[in-house]
Amino acid sequence: MSEGAFLVLEGIDGSGTTTQAALLAEALRARGHEVVLTREPTSRAIGSLLRAALQHRLTLPSGEPATLPPTSLALLFAADRLDHLAHVVEPALDRGAIVISDRFDLSSLVYQSATDPEGVKALEWLRSINGRARRPDLTIVVDVPAAVAEERRQRRGGEAELFEQRALQERLAESYRRAETLVPGDRVVHVRGDQSEELVSAEVLEVVLAELTARDRPRLAPRPEKTS
Ligand SMILES: Nc1ncnc2c1ncn2[C@@H]1O[C@H](COP(=O)(O)OP(=O)(O)O)[C@@H](O)[C@H]1O
Ligand SMILES: [Mg+2]
Repeated sequence: MSEGAFLVLEGIDGSGTTTQAALLAEALRARGHEVVLTREPTSRAIGSLLRAALQHRLTLPSGEPATLPPTSLALLFAADRLDHLAHVVEPALDRGAIVISDRFDLSSLVYQSATDPEGVKALEWLRSINGRARRPDLTIVVDVPAAVAEERRQRRGGEAELFEQRALQERLAESYRRAETLVPGDRVVHVRGDQSEELVSAEVLEVVLAELTARDRPRLAPRPEKTS
């Protein structure tokens, strides 16, 4: 494939997006593609600030713990995304690589609309602050019931992050099931995440290979024959 492709994996916490992003990267590299595996929040300046906030590690200069309102978090996620695009995603796509991002702006629409005090009314604002973000070529939503994801998070161990509460995760799972309504015009495909890692990964690869073939087809199609 000569042109880059921008692939995004999405799902609730514990759905397996990180696992699947890594397996997909491995499978595509084995097929000879250059792959850039990346994630949001990023590990860059704004992303690191966000990770600190999500992990309850944000402090004031005095050392006191600090929190951020959902609106500030939403703006930071959008700011991190534009930094991510400018420094990681776009340069890789420009040189023809396949970029796999573990989360992108669908996460902002799903998580921030569920936590903003204005609820779904916040969607318009969330779309506008993310309006300069380039669209992915394909978004794969890993659908998993909140109970299954919670069990996996508990098995993984560690402190619960900011959004990792069961009732909220139920709402996020519901929102992901209707993901295409949040990003009209985008190509969104759902896979069942409550199967073994291998089965999920086979489904993800099938969807991605179909997408890459479809993108290549116009170049490979024979010229239409003249009929007159
Ligand atoms: N299909 C699966 N079946 C069982 N456990 C899984 C599956 N996918 C991931 N896990 C495990 O569940 C936990 C969460 O997976 P992870 O990929 O980190 O999810 P996410 O990035 O969506 O939060 C990890 O411990 C991982 O090993
Ligand atoms: Mg993850």
